[in-house]
Amino acid sequence: MAFGKALAVAAIVALTLVLLLRTDHDYASARKVSPNKEKHIPQLGLGTWLSDRDEVAHAVEYALDNGYDHIDAALVYKNENQTGKGIKASGVDRSKIWVTSKLWNSDHRRPEAEAAIQKSIADLGVDYLDLYLMHWPVAFVPEEGTRLDKDTSIVDTWRTMEDFVRQNYTRHIGVSNFARAQVQAILDVCDICPYAHEFETHPYLQQQDFVDWHRRADVDIKVIAYSPLANTNPTYRDKKGSLVDPIFKDPFWTKLAKAKNATVVQTVLAWGMQRGTVVIPKSTQEKHIAENRGALDIAFSKGEMREISKRDKKVRMNDPGKSWGVKLFVDLDDPTSFDGEDIEL
Ligand SMILES: NC(=O)c1ccc[n+]([C@@H]2O[C@H](COP(=O)([O-])OP(=O)(O)OC[C@H]3O[C@@H](n4cnc5c(N)ncnc54)[C@H](OP(=O)(O)O)[C@@H]3O)[C@@H](O)[C@H]2O)c1
Repeated sequence: MAFGKALAVAAIVALTLVLLLRTDHDYASARKVSPNKEKHIPQLGLGTWLSDRDEVAHAVEYALDNGYDHIDAALVYKNENQTGKGIKASGVDRSKIWVTSKLWNSDHRRPEAEAAIQKSIADLGVDYLDLYLMHWPVAFVPEEGTRLDKDTSIVDTWRTMEDFVRQNYTRHIGVSNFARAQVQAILDVCDICPYAHEFETHPYLQQQDFVDWHRRADVDIKVIAYSPLANTNPTYRDKKGSLVDPIFKDPFWTKLAKAKNATVVQTVLAWGMQRGTVVIPKSTQEKHIAENRGALDIAFSKGEMREISKRDKKVRMNDPGKSWGVKLFVDLDDPTSFDGEDIEL
């Protein structure tokens, strides 16, 4: 009888343990977070796309010596080794800097991806990255230009990137230029979930709903706003950027900047940060790099934020979808149209 009782107690204890473990497991699979969450991405970073190879090392060194602590790089910008020289020359301790790099479309297959992240790390002269992004939700067949790789899905690539966290190549992983459904597809299966999503957003393509969606508790992804100065990047000027006023000359923004006793660029960047995005303006000029940091001192009232939200023009500047034969941003403002303008990267 006593033995039977002991057996019953043991069975209950075992069952409870199994249930507890399952609950833990279910919780973990519902939301598995990247490790090392304590060091967060700084709100202002220095962009490096189209930064001249001869100028970027100095720009990075100058920025880091003057209060910046975040550099946005990518293998496809073909200047990571110069960017690395700037990081080294600054003498700022590695642990005090946030370094992001990106996996290019031709490198989505596992062997290519591993070689690519190793190259970025070596060129940037660091031991590890803080963030590694899937640059586009598009895979090309290696060595075959822009021929689409139909055999490698974004989930396959994500699995490879999760291993990069486990291998300590990078502290965090994330995505870039994804539509909402594509982010959700990763969230549905991730073991290590996206830390950040870098996409085009600025006063002329605000997408505030999409920005806010990332902040929901069940999504919890930081938004990095690229091309935060709208059509200022000269690449955009002769293309879709010409459809709208240069933001420097936009009467709404010049008036607001005057009211803030600031430049238009500082005002636009300050709005980007207050609305909940990380901003990464590119510059290779000391004067601009210093000026852009001034954005950290500007704040807007609720009324001003409301007025700015009315100035959205829903114009996307950067969309290589047509040239790649891929419909991008399908559930967002200004998606790829095969009749529309295209931007060659
Ligand atoms: N993930 C992606 O697919 C993706 C795509 C695009 C961009 N990005 C990242 O986002 C970064 C920023 O975007 P972006 O380079 O396209 O555009 P941006 O930062 O919005 O604009 C850059 C342009 O603004 C000028 N500029 C910067 N500060 C200025 C100031 N204070 N006054 C006047 N002009 C100023 C720069 O010229 P100067 O150099 O002469 O100052 C440059 O021509 C990129 O560099 C890259 O790191 C990522």
